[in-house]
Amino acid sequence: MRKIGIIGAMEEEVSILKKHMKDTKVSKIASTEFCEGILEGKQVVVVRSGIGKVNAAISTQILVDRYQVDAVINTGVAGSLRNEINIGDIVLSTDALQHDMDATGFGYEAGVIPRMECSIFQADEGLLLKAKKVCSELIPEVGVHTGRVVSGDQFISDSRKKKWLLQNFAGYCTEMEGAAIAQAAYLNKIPFLIIRAISDKADQSAEMAYSEFEELAIKNSVTLLTGLVPQLS
Ligand code: ADE
Repeated sequence: MRKIGIIGAMEEEVSILKKHMKDTKVSKIASTEFCEGILEGKQVVVVRSGIGKVNAAISTQILVDRYQVDAVINTGVAGSLRNEINIGDIVLSTDALQHDMDATGFGYEAGVIPRMECSIFQADEGLLLKAKKVCSELIPEVGVHTGRVVSGDQFISDSRKKKWLLQNFAGYCTEMEGAAIAQAAYLNKIPFLIIRAISDKADQSAEMAYSEFEELAIKNSVTLLTGLVPQLS
């Protein structure tokens, strides 16, 4: 892979990464900052997409059209949907779907995108395997889980909704961008991987936990990314 697009929703999620980059050039496209340069010897474009699925999809398309990236990696934080997935742990995506896609009134199951052949987008197996290996080498003390990321334009802080996401979609974690990036990658036929560090439990404690643990969560995902990028041949 010649050039990798890295998408984080918030400045906190991409700023440490940008500090590790050399020969950077920043451009503003669609009111969004793209930073191209070299990370650990590899050509990358890091973008702070802004929060939510629309922002994430727009950034992904720009990475494809303007920067011709060969793959996209989404990094950031997420809420855990399972008891065994703790704050600070990492979830690597097997696949991703949009939990708030709702055409049930038209006879579709929740999460199904009408008139698309696929609504669950598969992450790239090669990227996933490499990420797992880097986790075991660089952050062996961190719990690493591999499973489905469920995304929606909602911050989940309610245990009933959390249960619904687990029961309906078998999600591992929830956030607000991953599946949009996955869908844009699918439509453009490029590989993707979502790497999320758990900042909260997506229940009533979510808001408090988020502020307390966001920094730790981001640190873990940055370590993983800087280890992963040079291995992407
Ligand atoms: N990102 C981090 N925690 C989240 C949550 N609980 N819901 C949605 N996005 C999140």
